[in-house]
Formats: sequence, structure tokens, C-alpha cells
Amino acid sequence: MQTKIEKIDASSALAIKIIESQQEEDLDFLSFREKLSYANISHIEKRKEWATARLAIKDALEVLHIPYPGFFKDEHGKSQSMTGNGYVSLSHTEGFAGAIFHRELPVGIDMDFIREKILRIGFRFLDPSELDFLEKDPLHYTLAWSAKESIFKCQGRRGVSFRENILLEPFEPGATVIKAKIRGTEFADHYYKVQARILQDVVLTYTIW
Ligand SMILES: CC(C)(COP(=O)(O)OP(=O)(O)OC[C@H]1O[C@@H](n2cnc3c(N)ncnc32)[C@H](O)[C@@H]1OP(=O)(O)O)[C@@H](O)C(=O)NCCC(=O)NCCS
Repeated sequence: MQTKIEKIDASSALAIKIIESQQEEDLDFLSFREKLSYANISHIEKRKEWATARLAIKDALEVLHIPYPGFFKDEHGKSQSMTGNGYVSLSHTEGFAGAIFHRELPVGIDMDFIREKILRIGFRFLDPSELDFLEKDPLHYTLAWSAKESIFKCQGRRGVSFRENILLEPFEPGATVIKAKIRGTEFADHYYKVQARILQDVVLTYTIW
């Protein structure tokens, strides 16, 4: 399985994996609870994505010399470490899975295919000021969407609206950093810096609180 592992700093790392359908992976490292969750996923591709995301977390942890603690989902759907130490976020899409881990700060990661149809739903997730600066370009829109997903996942709370609560500063389609701020929630005026990369036809973004 092709893997890209990046140690961001002494406290954080991320891993991105290309999913190969033929390959059987050793999932013995999963906790009992995770093995149960895995056993309950019936769709074969979804199983592969779920498992590869956990392998990606394991790889990211290895770079930081942290043993795999096992993760459970909290009431918002966000993965939390079973030891209570550190923060994780993960993302999977057709053919790709990725994860980021930080020892002390919440993190968010997202991967999305660049697709034309995103242009048609811009009004749902974008503020008028964002619609003004974004070009009618699927890459530009996907970067905006994915940056908001990463911020949403970093916060980890249901009920945060992409359009109302997350506001992006103007950025170019080639940007590698997207700045954003939160408004109208208890974290109002918190500023985020989202890192952005393009991997084949996929946008990868991640952010650290
Ligand atoms: C839940 C959500 C974050 C998942 O994102 P996605 O792009 O569909 O899927 P991804 O593969 O990137 O991420 C899935 C992972 O997100 C994580 N996740 C789920 N809910 C989460 C939450 N509230 N906070 C942080 N992470 C969450 C899970 O780990 C999940 O993986 P798993 O099921 O294997 O454990 C997303 O569907 C969502 O609800 N987004 C906000 C919805 C929204 O406001 N949209 C309206 C805009 S118009």
C-alpha cells in the first residue's frame, strides 16, 4: 500500500494512504471495540476505507513513537483516543484514506475529489463574500469546501454551519494555506490556518487548532 507519512513537528504527524483493493491488511492492532465496529461494516469498499484510515493513524503515531491506543467515537461522531491522550482526525474517500494526530491540540483533516458538481451547491456552504472571491472553478470550490470540512472536524461539534459559522479569507486556487475564522459560536473569533495540497484529483486539507 502506497503511504505518504509526514512528521509535521515534534507533536504531530499525518499519513495518507492509497487504498489497494486486493491487499489484505493485518488489523490485529485494533482494539476489541474497533474490531466490532469493523465487523459491522457490510459494504466492501467502505470496510477498506475504514480499515485504511486506522492503518494511517497507526503510521502517523509510529513516527511520533506513540503506541496505538485504540479510538472510539464520541457523541458527535469524532474519534477520541481511548487513553484520553492526544487528538486525531481522519478522512477517507474512494481510493484514499488519511489521518492526522497531535499530542496536545485538536486537529481536522479532509480529502475530497475535485468534481464539477460542487459549483452547483456553492450557495449552500459559502457566504456571499466567499462567492465573490472564488472563481467558478471546481478546484477553487473544492478547496473552500474541504477547508471548511477540516475546520468542522477540528471543532468536532454537530450544528456548526459551513455558511454561517466558518468564514474563509480570500485565497487563490494555488494556495497552500487558507485562513479562516469562526463566527457566531462559542469559539467566535478563533482563527484557523488550513494547509492545502492536491494529490492527483483529490484535495487534501488539514488544520491544527
Ligand atoms: C461527518 C462529516 C464531518 C464526515 O465527513 P466526510 O467528508 O463525509 O467523510 P470523511 O471520510 O472525510 O470523514 C469521515 C470521518 O469523519 C469523522 N467524523 C465524523 N463526525 C465527526 C465530527 N463531528 N467531528 C469530527 N470528525 C468527525 C469520523 O472519524 C469519520 O470516519 P469514520 O466513520 O471512519 O470514523 C461530514 O459528513 C459532515 O457532517 N460535515 C458537516 C456537514 C455540513 O455542515 N454540511 C453542510 C454544508 S452545506
